[in-house]
Amino acid sequence: MRIYDIIEKKRDGNKLSKEEISFFVNGFTRGEISKEQASALLMAVFIRGMDEEETVMLTESMARSGDLLDLSAFGNMTADKHSTGGVGDKTSLIVAPVCASLGIKMAKMSGRGLGHTGGTVDKLESIPGYRVDLTVSEFLKQVENIGIALIGQTGNLAPADKKIYALRDVTATVDNISLIASSIMSKKIAAGAKNIVLDVKCGSGAFMKTPEDAEKLARLMVKIGKSCGRSTAALITNMDIPLGSYIGNSLEIKEAVEILKNGGDKTLRTLCVELSAAIISLVFGKSHEEAVNDAEKALNTGIAFDKFKELVSAQGGDISVIDNPELLPVGQYQKDIFAKESGYIVSQDSRKIGEASVILGAGREKYGDPIDCSAGIMLLKKTGDRVSAGKKTATLYTSDKNRLEAAAEMFNEAFKISKTAPETKPLIFEKIV
Ligand code: URA
Repeated sequence: MRIYDIIEKKRDGNKLSKEEISFFVNGFTRGEISKEQASALLMAVFIRGMDEEETVMLTESMARSGDLLDLSAFGNMTADKHSTGGVGDKTSLIVAPVCASLGIKMAKMSGRGLGHTGGTVDKLESIPGYRVDLTVSEFLKQVENIGIALIGQTGNLAPADKKIYALRDVTATVDNISLIASSIMSKKIAAGAKNIVLDVKCGSGAFMKTPEDAEKLARLMVKIGKSCGRSTAALITNMDIPLGSYIGNSLEIKEAVEILKNGGDKTLRTLCVELSAAIISLVFGKSHEEAVNDAEKALNTGIAFDKFKELVSAQGGDISVIDNPELLPVGQYQKDIFAKESGYIVSQDSRKIGEASVILGAGREKYGDPIDCSAGIMLLKKTGDRVSAGKKTATLYTSDKNRLEAAAEMFNEAFKISKTAPETKPLIFEKIV
């Protein structure tokens, strides 16, 4: 087999076989196929597309390019959740303990933030002492002992995806539905959980800007999950507005604790309950109504909060900041933002708000950049709210005073105020099972 012939075949719009896809994935991962040829094939895939069967084969091949986490000791009780990336998205910090408190084994590896979107691992690292780097055996032992572990990606999971993604990133081949779906699902399949719930974000702060594109991606990922023997469901959810009232690492831990203590932002709570319910339904076969009830009860009775504390303590984190989130670091320099006119907030572009949080230091522009865990944004008003000219709508936080003005400028660009109230969009557009 020759990579040249595979490139030519896809260039001409033909379907690739399992052997051809594996030849590319394995050859490129081992360094036997050049970046030039891999780039040419990726561009051919980008232009010509892959059908569902090819996409499943690509996913399986990438998942098998490294270690496959063996969670078989936990039977069918393992679950994972994935968000395609958003602003203010701290749902994993809530959904994982809710589900674990109900007996589901949450062995979860999460990512770091990149660009305007945040990452669970960075948020967890703002808890002093919290270890995101457990070894695989520590990770599995903790899941056995307390039913939950939340860490960064460990071991050698889906190395093909890492190499291919790096190439896509510099060859304008990221935005292809088959390549996105196979990239995300290869990591989920390698991570071993039997049940997978996907939160496919849709809107200004998301990869997918329209519900139609988000639906295509969600359906494809659900199909891949099922073809790989995993019970899989997806929720398509609104990312036109940041999720919750806080953006930034310490601030988002604080907000997650508010929800786990049975308070906090109603929209965020609803989404966490729905995502938890989707997992509960897959694992226990319960109806949506029963599953929602279980998730609500886990929050109302405090068992989810206790589970979160158990998790933080098991991973070396300082429990006192969970009991009292006011102890978490908050940027020493602050700037209040005031409404420039009276009316309704009709748009709060979450991409721009995410970018403002990066300028403040809460995110990173490129891989490896340091993070200021005390930086972020508190939103006092959200889309649909009425504001009066001169009233405070948000506060920006940072530990670097020089960042405040540029962040405020970007933040203000995100806001549109109008005399008429905006049309309200649903939080959850669709559920795909
Ligand atoms: N996230 C991923 O992991 N891969 C993609 O291709 C896009 C988003």
